[in-house]
Amino acid sequence: MVFYIGNYMNKTFSALYASAVPQLFSTFATKKHREMFRLVHVLVLSLFGVAVSMQLNAATTGAIHGSNGMVASRSMIASRAGVEVMKAGGNAIDGAVATAFALAVTHPSAGNLGGGGLMVIRLANGNIVTNDHREKAPAAAHRDMYLDAQGDVVKGLSTDTHLATGVPGSVAGLLDVLDAHGDLEREKVLAPAIALARDGFPLSFDLAAAFKRRLEAFSKHPATFKKFTRDNGTPLQEGDVWKQPDLAKTLVRIAEQGRDGFYKGKTADLLVAEMKANNGIITHQDLVDYQSVWREPVHGTYRGHDIYGMAPPSSGGVLVVQMLNMLEPYDIGAAGFGSASNVHKMIEAERRAYADRARHLGDPDYYEVPMAMLASKDYAKKRFADFNPARANRSTEIDPGNFDKESMETTHLSSMDIAGNMVAYTTTLNLSYGIKMIATGTGFLLNNEMDDFSSKPNTPNSFGLIGGEANAIQPGKRMLSSMSPTIVTKDGKPLLVTGSPGGSTIITTVFQVIVNVIDHAMNVADAVAAPRFHHQWQPDRVIYENRGLSPDTVRILQDKGHQQMSAWVFGGGIGDANSIMYVGEELQGKSDPRNDGGAAGF
Ligand code: GLY
Repeated sequence: MVFYIGNYMNKTFSALYASAVPQLFSTFATKKHREMFRLVHVLVLSLFGVAVSMQLNAATTGAIHGSNGMVASRSMIASRAGVEVMKAGGNAIDGAVATAFALAVTHPSAGNLGGGGLMVIRLANGNIVTNDHREKAPAAAHRDMYLDAQGDVVKGLSTDTHLATGVPGSVAGLLDVLDAHGDLEREKVLAPAIALARDGFPLSFDLAAAFKRRLEAFSKHPATFKKFTRDNGTPLQEGDVWKQPDLAKTLVRIAEQGRDGFYKGKTADLLVAEMKANNGIITHQDLVDYQSVWREPVHGTYRGHDIYGMAPPSSGGVLVVQMLNMLEPYDIGAAGFGSASNVHKMIEAERRAYADRARHLGDPDYYEVPMAMLASKDYAKKRFADFNPARANRSTEIDPGNFDKESMETTHLSSMDIAGNMVAYTTTLNLSYGIKMIATGTGFLLNNEMDDFSSKPNTPNSFGLIGGEANAIQPGKRMLSSMSPTIVTKDGKPLLVTGSPGGSTIITTVFQVIVNVIDHAMNVADAVAAPRFHHQWQPDRVIYENRGLSPDTVRILQDKGHQQMSAWVFGGGIGDANSIMYVGEELQGKSDPRNDGGAAGF
């Protein structure tokens, strides 16, 4: 009885207090005052015993519940690192940056120092900002660098060699974001990642198995083989404590010196030496010249909600808005989740948006992207005018323009705090473990992001995506991305942070999570877990998660003319949409059940 009364009072206090926090928080103008208030806030929550969560209450929705801060990512250890710095007085931006650096340690296939990322941030005052730290083509890159004398693409050059590596942007971007909007000192935010790299952490089954599967690839590069094995050759096992001393030293240099700890000095020397020894082209000047860019977000609306995404060089933000615009005239909720009529409409929206991607999208600093047109409701209406509810269009009718296996790599984290700061962050090395080689002495893997350029017009890249002039290689240019970190608000208040890895399937994953929340009123756990399907214009094929569409739904869709439909057979499924929702006065987080990640809150 005492417990129930105590619990009731506790919850009532918690609800009242939490609802007042955003207002209280916004009255503090300076970073220092906000940090002091946050510390007091955490203390208050702890005193009243409401600093709960991790797994508590999960039974109510299948999500992790938090009353103060939350991170959802592909690695539970990394999410906890984010929560640790939030508990120490950090906001959601500090939490996201701490998690991102920790992912470089605990999720090395995609978490990175040697790659790039795109971040969408909603600040507690309601402003939306985005940071583009996509990799760039080195100054010595040129349009035909992956073609042979006959003008054909040389297989593997843009994926498996040092020539595949774009100038890394993650460290510059994360530090810029922290500087502009974090509440904590750099050293504090990097501390968990440094400790994880220096002291090690026990390998999960998932991670040990992933290393074993790649031993042959790692064995081609001595420093990489050493990093990913025990005693320079024995496969690492589940439970082994995995230490990464070189990576720890690189992280310490970044913590102590800021961007100079990566783009200059010892780290830069090691990276450039690695390039020189292996026919790579990244120079000291490329590193010094690298800058992240603050860009205007892409903004759209959907049934009274505001959708904020990343502008080009991401294709994701604008494609998500385009597809939602095409759906808006229809009552998707009434037709029901997974109904053939909804799936048909969504496939047709995806087909048209991806055709536009190939034609119009590239780095806006090098190519004029018709953003206003693509994101407008008017354009969506015209683009969808030839939609036929009874019949599938052929992709050649949409735009006369291959599809290998997909990689699940790239990774997404979401972070939110009760003050209303929200962070959607997607980061990548491109394919799993990038070129599968580290820069010797640095401990970090090199990306193969150059493959996201179109090496030759109308020739598919590793994701089967086709591009043209807009995404041709030029020195200093950013390659087109599908990364779609997204924030959704309603009436100016936080609602959803989402995003996903999955190459070309990133965009359709994010699109479907949003439709699940807005049209089907799903909670975050259901919205993230619900089965997905994907169409990307070329090849003209629908893929759907195993058992994600019922056999009779597939038959109806085939009768409409979706002739090529196949069940997805790679990895856990399509996407890994680690997401957070703001519900009433609490945060609900869900790491995608398709993978071995985790949401943590307090
Ligand atoms: N490298 C995957 C993407 O940026 O789309």
